[in-house]
Amino acid sequence: MKEPTYWKRSRGAYRILIIISALMVIISVAALFFFTDDTGTEEDNTPSNKEYTTIPTTNDDPNTIIDGIHVRTGLVEAEGLMAVVTNCTTCHSAQLVIQNRMDRDRWIATIRWMQKTQNLWGLGDNEAVIVNYLVTNYPPINKGRRQALSQVEWYELKE
Ligand code: HEC
Repeated sequence: MKEPTYWKRSRGAYRILIIISALMVIISVAALFFFTDDTGTEEDNTPSNKEYTTIPTTNDDPNTIIDGIHVRTGLVEAEGLMAVVTNCTTCHSAQLVIQNRMDRDRWIATIRWMQKTQNLWGLGDNEAVIVNYLVTNYPPINKGRRQALSQVEWYELKE
């Protein structure tokens, strides 16, 4: 049985409708793309953002020292620092080192424990250097309060 012609015609109209709506979707997506792109650049150009990017960063040198602190790790600058940075900050944060204060025996015991249970490698000649650094800079403190600040160089905060 032949389809009635009005049905055929309406199917044609339906197709055209689909094509038109598809075009509209494409156009609106394109418009949205250009629109958001514009506002994005506008935001990046706000003065405060520009100023922010001119603040000197330490990204250039990973081993920048500021006020006696190795900025990337927070470790104190002293003899043996780089041996500690290389050997002690790969598995965990240097904070784990900094927040612990121990005497020589306990630092060595901690290293042995990591070597036994955590796959810490043999430190060779560096072990003495590292332990000296740790004992010198992170010894146990028995005081209930932190010590008074000394040798403070005050500086004015720039806006
Ligand atoms: C091979 C990996 C690895 C390396 C390298 C490593 N550690 Fe650890 N260390 C660990 C793991 C794992 C722990 C346990 C972490 C935890 O408890 O979350 C740990 C824990 C510690 C702790 C805390 C111990 C405690 O009693 O809570 C200290 C302090 C520490 N490490 C110091 C060091 C020092 C100093 C070095 C350099 C000689 C070093 N680590 C290098 C794996 C390592």
